[in-house]
Amino acid sequence: MPGNLNSLVSLSLTNRTNLLTHGLHRFPAKYIPQVPRWGLDSYAALGSYVLDPFAGSGTTNLEAAAHGYSSVALEINPLSRLIIRAKNTPIPDDELEAAAKRVRAAWRPHEGPLRAPMAGVVNFDHWFSDATWRQLAGLKDAVKSETEPGAIREFFLVVFSSIIRAVSNADDQSQKTYVSGTRIKSPPPVTSTWDNAVRRSLSGMSELNQTAARHTHVTVPDTGNALDIPFEANTFDLAVTSPPYLDSVDYPYNLMLEHFWLADELGLPSRQDFNQLRHGQVGAKNPASAEDPPRFISDLLEVETLPEYRRTAVLSYFAMMDQHFSEMARVLKDGARYVFVVGNSGTKIGPLPIHKALIGLAQTHGLGLEHAFGYRLRRHYMKFPRAGRGGIILVDWVLTLRKGLQSDLEVPDLVDSHVEVDPRAVAY
Ligand SMILES: C[S@@+](CC[C@H](N)C(=O)[O-])C[C@H]1O[C@@H](n2cnc3c(N)ncnc32)[C@H](O)[C@@H]1O
Repeated sequence: MPGNLNSLVSLSLTNRTNLLTHGLHRFPAKYIPQVPRWGLDSYAALGSYVLDPFAGSGTTNLEAAAHGYSSVALEINPLSRLIIRAKNTPIPDDELEAAAKRVRAAWRPHEGPLRAPMAGVVNFDHWFSDATWRQLAGLKDAVKSETEPGAIREFFLVVFSSIIRAVSNADDQSQKTYVSGTRIKSPPPVTSTWDNAVRRSLSGMSELNQTAARHTHVTVPDTGNALDIPFEANTFDLAVTSPPYLDSVDYPYNLMLEHFWLADELGLPSRQDFNQLRHGQVGAKNPASAEDPPRFISDLLEVETLPEYRRTAVLSYFAMMDQHFSEMARVLKDGARYVFVVGNSGTKIGPLPIHKALIGLAQTHGLGLEHAFGYRLRRHYMKFPRAGRGGIILVDWVLTLRKGLQSDLEVPDLVDSHVEVDPRAVAY
C-alpha cells in the first residue's frame, strides 16, 4: 500500500482485505483496511486514542485494535453499531465454538404462521421463499435461545445478518436491494450458507484473538452522531474516517433486508422508524431538514450553478459537514491529525470537486491540509460505469488535516472519475 506517498497508488481489491474479522459482514463503501492502517502507521504513537466519527462497519477501529490502539466508533446507524461491536470484541475460540454447536443443534425451521420481523413491511415473500423464510426465522430463534444477551449473541446475530442477502431473492450483482426481473436468482441453501459463514467468522475471530486487540478497547456510544460528539474537548490524538459522500450511497437501503430481520435488536420496530433513519444521515438524498448553509459556502462552491432540485441536498450536506468539522476541531488535541478519505465521483449535478470544497470548509475550523494523495481502486463488483448516477468512484483521496495548521496546499480537481490520471498530477 501507499509506500510512496508522492504518487498515485494503485490498489486492487484482489489484495487480501478480509483478514481478522474484516470480512464478518459486507458493508457498502467499506474502505480497505490498508487505508486506515496507513493512517495509523503514519500518525499514531504508543497510547494514541483514535476516533472514527463515521465508522461504518468499524474498519478503522479493527485496524486500531489489532495494532494496540484503543478507539471510539461513532455511527448513527444501529446495524453498523452492532457490526462494529461484533467485529471488535475478542471472544475466546472455545466459547464461540461451543455456542456455534448449540445453535446448530437447536435450529429447526419455523413452523406455523409467518410474520415479517418488522411491523409495516409488506410482501416479505417477494424477498424470501417460504422455505428460506422458515429457515431464517428458526435460525434466529436458535441464536437467541442458545446464547445469553451479550457479546456472543451479538456475534452470531451479525453472522446471521451476513447471510441474509445471499439467501434472499435480491440481486447479488448490485449493492441495492432489489429483485432483478432479468437475472433470476436461485439462492443457495440456508444451512450450508450458515455453516460456511460460521466457519469463516470463527476463523477471523481466532485471528483477532492473536493480536493486540485483547488489550485494547473499542467504545461504541449509543448516540453516535458525528455532528454532536459525546466527548470532551482535546480528547483524541488521531481521527481516521471515510465520511458519507454526497448522495452516493444509501446505507440503510442497501442493507434493507438485514434491518428488517433485526428490527427488534436494532430498536427499529417499524418501517417508519427505518425510513426515518434513511433521511437523518449526512449525505442523504432527501435530507430531513434544510439546514442553513455554512458561512463561506459561496467561496467553496458555485451554488448558483446547482440545479434547483439538488440544491437542498448539497447545501444540507455542507451544513452538516460544517457542523462536523467544528466538532472535530473541538475533540481533537492540538496538532492532532484527521485522516479523511473521500471518493472522487461524478454526481447527477455534473462533476463537483467535493473534496476541494471539504478541504476549504475544514480550514475555516482550523483544520489545515497537511498532506494528500490519491489512489486508484479497482472495484471489481461494479463492472459498468453508471454515468450520472453516482458513478463508480475510481480515485479516492486520502487527505491529512491537522488541527491548528494554516495551509495553502491545494489538490487538483480530478473530477472525472473515468479519466486516466497522471500520477504526477497528484503528487505532494
Ligand atoms: C463511507 S461510510 C464509512 C465506511 C467505513 N469506513 C467502513 O470501512 O466500513 C460512512 C458512514 O457514516 C454514517 N453516518 C452518516 N451520518 C452520520 C452521522 N451524522 N454520524 C455518524 N455516522 C454517520 C453512515 O451510516 C455510514 O455508515
